[in-house]
This record gives sequence, C-alpha cells and structure tokens, in this order.
Amino acid sequence: MGYVDLHSHVLFGLDDGAPDPATSLAMLDALASLGVSEQCVTPHQKASQYLPAWADVETAFAEVSKLRNPRHPTLRLAAENMWDDVFYQRAIDGTIPHYTGTSAFLVEIPRQLMPPGMLDRLFQFGRAGKVPVLAHPERYHQLWDDDALARSLRRVCAFQIDLGAIAGFHGKRETKAARHLLELGLAACVATDAHQVGDLQQAAAGLAWIDKKLGHAAVVRLFDHAPRAILSGELPD
Ligand SMILES: [Fe+2]
Repeated sequence: MGYVDLHSHVLFGLDDGAPDPATSLAMLDALASLGVSEQCVTPHQKASQYLPAWADVETAFAEVSKLRNPRHPTLRLAAENMWDDVFYQRAIDGTIPHYTGTSAFLVEIPRQLMPPGMLDRLFQFGRAGKVPVLAHPERYHQLWDDDALARSLRRVCAFQIDLGAIAGFHGKRETKAARHLLELGLAACVATDAHQVGDLQQAAAGLAWIDKKLGHAAVVRLFDHAPRAILSGELPD
C-alpha cells in the first residue's frame, strides 16, 4: 500500500508537464520516493491551450507504462478537464475522460470566474452517479472569501488541494486558501499536480505541513483513504 495521487502531468509531450520520456521516468522515481503507490496521470484537456488528441494521450500512456519499473507506482489514466466548451459538449455526449475504470473525473475551472450554472451541473453529475473532483480550489478567486460558497460546492464535488500550494509555492493567497480549506475540513484530498521533478520536493513539503499542523492521520486520510474512496465511486465527507 501507499499513497494515491489523483493529479499529475507525468505523461510526456502532451502539455506543460514532462517534455520527454527521461523526465517521466525521473518523476516516477521521485513519486516512488514520496511513497506513492498509485499514480493517476492527468494531461490537460483545455481547448484554449492544451488539447492533445486522445489517441496521442493513450500512446504516451502506453509508452510510459512500458518504461516504468516495478519500483514505480502503478499508473491510471485520466485527464485534467477544463470546464470549457469542449467539456460542456463532452458532458452532453457522455465522453468526459474519467479516471479509467471509475465513475470519477478531474475538472478545473477558470481562476477568475465560476462557470454559470456550475453548482447545478455538479449536482446533476452526482445524481448520475459521477464523482467530480475539483482540482486546486485554492486558486479560484470566488472561493477566497466565501466559505458559504465553498461549503455549497463541496457538497457536490470533492476538493483536491495541491500540495505545493499548501507548502507555499503557488502564491501567498493560494497558500492561505489551501490551508484554510484544510483547516475548515473542506478538503477531500491532496495531490501533487506535478509538472516536473522539482514539484515533488514541494509536494513533500506540503505533506510535512499537514503532518505537523493536522497530524499524521490527516495525511493518511487526504492522500490515501480519500483518493481510494473517490476511485471506488464515493464522494468523501
Ligand atoms: Fe494539473
């Protein structure tokens, strides 16, 4: 057993994550050292910036799967879906890339503006048996000073906080928000969101912060039990 990381850009040549196979392997080495036993690989699916064809994503997944060694975490394919027109159409068509073999998917929203109708749409996903996981809620400006909104949103999706933000590497306001969501008990899980090898040192610092401030049981809950629950189709409390 070990940690389960729901968010990373380990697959090479698809987005702003690993640029080549050597970097993918170095990231898997660092993830193994961090204690991760299952790594979800979540390349961007973002219309305005990174929208690799899904066949290319599958090819990169197959190549990295072939390169990994038994010491590395096992891999599960998913995507970081931006809530844009592509996502909206995929929601209608039932083709949102999920965590493979599960009813859960990872989604991000623009920093400055919550998509209109988002709460209702998330509620509908839940009614359809889906588990939406909201990537890095600490980045979203509308949640910064609105705990009531955060609570409403948290009822219909799982908040995934970035470990680097907890440790202080993603900006002051983001760090404050990340720690606040953890202390309020609204964080469902944490993830590395690693784009490069150095991000995994930041992730280790984030885990150390949780361990020190909230206790080791919180580390186990946020980086082991909750992500496993999500992958088995549950929305953690
Ligand atoms: Fe990401």
